[in-house]
Amino acid sequence: MLRKLLPMPLRSRHEVSGHAANQHQQLHLPSGRARRLGRAALVLLLVALIPLTVWATTREEAESAISEAKQMREEAIAAGVTESPTDEMIEQAESVLPSRQYTRALQYAQWAWRQDAMAMRLLAKEEARAAQGVAAKAAVGTYQEPIDVLEGLIARTQSEYLSQSDQNLMMMPDSPAIWTASDGEELFKEPRGPNNVSLEECDFGKGPGVLEGAYVEMPRYFEDTGKVMDLETRLIHCMVTLQGFSPDDPEVKKRHGSGSDHMKLQTYIASQSSGFAWNPPMDHPLEKALRDAGQVMFYRRAGKADFACSTCHAASGKRIRASVLPNKNVPEEWTKAISWPAFRVGHDHVRSSQHRLRGCYWQMRQPMPIAGSDASIAMLSYWTDAARGQPAILSDMKR
Ligand code: HEC
Repeated sequence: MLRKLLPMPLRSRHEVSGHAANQHQQLHLPSGRARRLGRAALVLLLVALIPLTVWATTREEAESAISEAKQMREEAIAAGVTESPTDEMIEQAESVLPSRQYTRALQYAQWAWRQDAMAMRLLAKEEARAAQGVAAKAAVGTYQEPIDVLEGLIARTQSEYLSQSDQNLMMMPDSPAIWTASDGEELFKEPRGPNNVSLEECDFGKGPGVLEGAYVEMPRYFEDTGKVMDLETRLIHCMVTLQGFSPDDPEVKKRHGSGSDHMKLQTYIASQSSGFAWNPPMDHPLEKALRDAGQVMFYRRAGKADFACSTCHAASGKRIRASVLPNKNVPEEWTKAISWPAFRVGHDHVRSSQHRLRGCYWQMRQPMPIAGSDASIAMLSYWTDAARGQPAILSDMKR
């Protein structure tokens, strides 16, 4: 009806000019969407406001919140939370009571309560971690066959990641890594290089030639170089400075493949820590700094796929095709994940931690870290710290 009453030129203009008609439509769509969005935002805002607006209508409510906050404060102090802004928050809550700002008083008191509750939770977590470290240090550990370590972990956790391959479990007692390690033992004890000395002179952190439990305490800080070093960098250091090899000699330079001196030596040295609890020292500030840098790297999303390590390794039961992925937050699982050198069935070679790390970055389509760089050692420090207290499986066998 109305349209019929409209003056003709308007209609005909629309009919003649498709462009104008299009514009008309285009103008309409966004404005309708905007209205819907606006309504959704308003609903969201209201929903968000509900839990925030706690009306303390009475003085009693405010006072009881303050006394709860005070009680929590005492508990927190007893638990060892000494530095805290909560005293001030409680004072603020009390200071607004005389002017009958009960809602505000209640809010201050609740914030104080929450602050202390959170500080206590964090402290408890930190203490549990430290206790684990102390226990691991005291226990040091004793040698255990890799298969026994793994079966013990499976029995304790029933983890899907740990138990995913029956075939690997069956093959472990005959792992080709055993031969690689035994070749490594010979190389280790043999006087080699221009200086004709054996690696028994090399200190891996527990004194020259002491290998038992040395690998589970790496990466660690070494006085003689002033650096935090992982097994591979330490080995290179000794081959060059003790044995006199040049960094370009194949003994030093070739790092991958079961046939390389490096993989033989690394597999042997690491296998002397099977069954020992991971226990990177974290005594020196640089050890902590690298571990913390590794944590940032673990959670940092980047690259064209926008992946972080945590995208795939921070929840249990994630899969890629048939592989169950290990969860960094479950140390019983994570110990297997970081137990390298391991024989990779699919590669038919023993592979190192540094090799695995490169693979991880390749998988994320990000530039690969340089072996032995601070960045690579930071990540190894972080991933080892995350398995703290759990027994190492050396040498492990992976798909
Ligand atoms: C897109 C998912 C994804 C991302 C991102 C990822 N990984 Fe992995 N990661 C995997 C898969 C899949 C495997 C198992 C490899 C295999 O079976 O071939 C694996 C294996 C591992 C392992 C050895 C565990 C094993 O069972 O062999 C470690 C350790 C590891 N990743 C650490 C990392 C770190 C550190 C990062 C970040 C630098 C990272 N991953 C990023 C998927 C991912």
